[in-house]
Amino acid sequence: MKILAINGSHTGDKGYTQFLINILIKGAIRAGATCETIVLANHNIKPCLGCRACQRSGHYLKCIYDEKDDVAMIFEKMRAADMLVYATPVYIFNMTGLMKIFLDRITSTADSSKLTLSKNGLFFHHIDKQLIAKPFVLITTQDNLENETSDNVISYFRTFSRFLDAPVAGIIRRKSGGLVGHGKDIGKENRYPVIQEVYRAIETAGYEVATRRRVSAKTGRKASAGIIAMPWFIEFILHFGFIRRNQHFMKRILAQSRKKF
Ligand SMILES: Cc1cc2nc3c(=O)[nH]c(=O)nc-3n(C[C@H](O)[C@H](O)[C@H](O)COP(=O)(O)O)c2cc1C
Repeated sequence: MKILAINGSHTGDKGYTQFLINILIKGAIRAGATCETIVLANHNIKPCLGCRACQRSGHYLKCIYDEKDDVAMIFEKMRAADMLVYATPVYIFNMTGLMKIFLDRITSTADSSKLTLSKNGLFFHHIDKQLIAKPFVLITTQDNLENETSDNVISYFRTFSRFLDAPVAGIIRRKSGGLVGHGKDIGKENRYPVIQEVYRAIETAGYEVATRRRVSAKTGRKASAGIIAMPWFIEFILHFGFIRRNQHFMKRILAQSRKKF
C-alpha cells in the first residue's frame, strides 16, 4: 500500500498539520505501508488562470504551467499512490488557499466537454480517474472547539468524493490545536490528558488505513474527539440552539470546562 499525504498548511512541515500527518503515517508504516508527504508550502504551485488552454487541441489536458511549476510532478505521485491523505488547517472556516489552489489545478486533467456519470449517479464531466478517483483520508486542524468551524471543509471533501468517485476512507477533525500547544507540548504534562488518547487513535487510523483501506468508525470518533470531556447530557443539550443562546448557561459551561469536568 502506497500512501501519499498532501499537506496544505502554509506553515509547511513546522505546523500541527504535519505533526498529525506524521502520527498517522507512523501507524501506516507499522502496518507495512510506504508513505510519502508532499508539503505544498515547499513547492512552486501556481494558481489556475482559467485560461482553458487545457481544453484546446495543441495543449489538450496539459496545463500551461506543467513545465514551470511542481504540480505535474505531484500529480504523478498521486497517480502512483493507492491512498491519499488530504490534510489542511482551517483558515476562516475553510481549507487553506494553498490547498484550494492546488486542487483547482485538477481541472487541467479533465475534458469538460465529455459528459459522464459518477458512481453516485451525478452528472459530471470526464475525469482522470487514475489521478483523482482514489480513496482518501481527510485531516482538518483548527484552534476552535466547535465542529461547525470545519464543517465547510468536510462538506467540500464529501462533495469532492461523490463527484470524483474518490471514496472517503476516513475523516479526522482535530479541534483545539491551540489549547494543546499544536503538539509542541507532547511529552509534557498537558491540561487536557485526553489528547494522548486522541494521538494514539490517529496512529491506529494510519494502521487501519494501511490494512483495511479505511478508518473504522470507532477510531475516527476517538481521533476527532473533543478535548474537554463533558458529561454526555451536557454534550447532548448543546445541540440545541436555544441552549447555546443562553449566555448565562453557556458561561457556566465555559467556567466549568476550565476547572475540568
Ligand atoms: C489565516 C488563519 C486563519 C485561521 N482561521 C481559523 C478558523 O477560522 N478557525 C479555527 O479554529 N482556527 C483557525 N486558524 C488556526 C489554524 O487552523 C490552526 O492553528 C491550525 O492548527 C494551524 O495548522 P498548522 O500548524 O499546520 O499551520 C487560522 C489560522 C490562520 C493562520
